Amino acid sequence: MCSDCAALIRDEQPADIAEVRRVETEAFGQAEEADLVDRLRDQNAHLLSLIAEVDGQVAGHILFTRMWIRSGETRVSAVALAPLAVLPEYQRRGVGTALTNEGLRRLRGMQERIVLVVGHKEYYPRFGFSRESAERLSTPFPTDSFFALELVPGALDGIAGSVEYHSAFGL
Ligand SMILES: CC(C)(COP(=O)(O)OP(=O)(O)OC[C@H]1O[C@@H](n2cnc3c(N)ncnc32)[C@H](O)[C@@H]1OP(=O)(O)O)[C@@H](O)C(=O)NCCC(=O)NCCS
Repeated sequence: MCSDCAALIRDEQPADIAEVRRVETEAFGQAEEADLVDRLRDQNAHLLSLIAEVDGQVAGHILFTRMWIRSGETRVSAVALAPLAVLPEYQRRGVGTALTNEGLRRLRGMQERIVLVVGHKEYYPRFGFSRESAERLSTPFPTDSFFALELVPGALDGIAGSVEYHSAFGL
């Protein structure tokens, strides 16, 4: 439970699927992210899909999927944070923060080491994501919106190369 925003953070259940679609569509003002979430779920790519429930309603959603960094001859395992969405009427009360913090806490427990995100530069640094950690990774995204977080200090040491998302991202 998030003490500031009264959100219960829990795993997505099959009964939440329609509401997750609504949250994604209303938050982004388009269906693209909702379609992506559905494709990833259909292809079993979900590593962690969390719901923020406020007053019994699905108010937010965050998804983490497996991704890779091609570094020299090796393929380093990482996690993609995408998308994160909060219904407009529930924004700016800590719901997105609670979803992100709980997701990162769970990923640490799952022994994950690296999380990558494309997003707002004012938002993700507060969770420890940084541009600097991501600077040796090449991506199809604008560099000022691509961030990395080492869940284990030094997890990105010596790693340089291109990132590989699940094919459902269509990149
Ligand atoms: C981004 C988003 C998930 C944040 O969720 P939230 O529950 O409103 O966030 P929180 O309440 O935990 O944090 C609020 C803080 O986030 C920042 N923030 C919120 N939306 C932001 C945005 N669009 N751009 C930059 N910073 C933003 C603000 O600094 C805000 O702090 P303030 O209230 O002191 O100004 C939500 O605004 C959203 O769903 N937006 C549309 C979809 C989207 O852009 N998703 C993220 C893709 S990277």
